Amino acid sequence: MPHDHLLDVSDLTIQYNIEGNLVPVVDRVSFYIDQGEIIGLVGESGCGKTQIALSQARLLPKAAFISQSSINDVHSAMIFQDPLNALNPVLKVGTQILEGIKVKVNRNKGEVVRLLNAVGIDKPEKRYYQYPHEFSGGMRQRVLIAIALARDPDLLIADEPTTALDVTIQAQIIDLLKELNDKQGVSILFISHDLSLVKSFAQRTMDMYAGRIVESAPTDVLFSSPKHPYTKALIQLSRMNKNNKGEFPSIPGVVPPPLEYPAGCRFHPRCPSAIQECAEKEPDFVLKGEHSWACPIT
Ligand SMILES: Nc1ncnc2c1ncn2[C@@H]1O[C@H](COP(=O)(O)OP(=O)(O)OP(=O)(O)O)[C@@H](O)[C@H]1O
Ligand SMILES: [Mg+2]
Repeated sequence: MPHDHLLDVSDLTIQYNIEGNLVPVVDRVSFYIDQGEIIGLVGESGCGKTQIALSQARLLPKAAFISQSSINDVHSAMIFQDPLNALNPVLKVGTQILEGIKVKVNRNKGEVVRLLNAVGIDKPEKRYYQYPHEFSGGMRQRVLIAIALARDPDLLIADEPTTALDVTIQAQIIDLLKELNDKQGVSILFISHDLSLVKSFAQRTMDMYAGRIVESAPTDVLFSSPKHPYTKALIQLSRMNKNNKGEFPSIPGVVPPPLEYPAGCRFHPRCPSAIQECAEKEPDFVLKGEHSWACPIT
């Protein structure tokens, strides 16, 4: 019997006109999210994580050409990386927040106070009348989560929600998201560069490279027996210490821009296990229960 997923995305492609060519920045991506599930999405910068998030929150810019072979109407709300950055012109965060606030104003004050309470803001009656500058970074992210919750979403899309916050505050926001998932059953699509955070937080994890999902599995399976050389490299690096600049070491080479995605497996120029075939043929997915990966070698 087919399983009824909360969200079922099939062959999602997002293209832009880049230098006169229609170029996919997200390419034939399929995934699902179940009711009450926390799913992690990882991958290096530029791989298309935010584009996927924006598409599901219906916040992509007009310039985007989107195709998707099945669409279901999930009620979703999105929270972003930088709680200060409400005016980001590219991501239209401001518009999104305003929309959230409108919904909130239409409700009575009691409901807003309840929401502020639900996201762990003390003295919500007093806080109700205060301005954002009177809130710390962590508190502002809580306010953004409250605005998202005002839309009563089934799916909360959290795009690096703690990256701009310091470690203690990060942990508090993660605890809040866990609690919302636990008590209200809200599903969460959690995007992060921090693999150890995803490991402890998400039930399933998807790994993206250059516009494609290359591996997906229950989180414990992905971390204990990764199959794709890209996932293996990411996990290996995440276990290493930060360098003296406070940065994590990275995989040699860079993610190419979408216009220059190579033929065959897009990771092959950086892959230590690549063979001739990898440069010629796009790998099929290998399926093993809930675990799938796009590499014929491992
Ligand atoms: N409006 C646009 N026009 C053309 N290309 C775009 C546009 N918006 C995004 N892109 C490209 O889409 C690709 C995916 O970007 P996206 O922001 O989704 O990456 P990401 O995985 O979220 O990266 P990060 O980890 O840095 O947040 C990038 O190559 C980016 O340059
Ligand atoms: Mg992003």
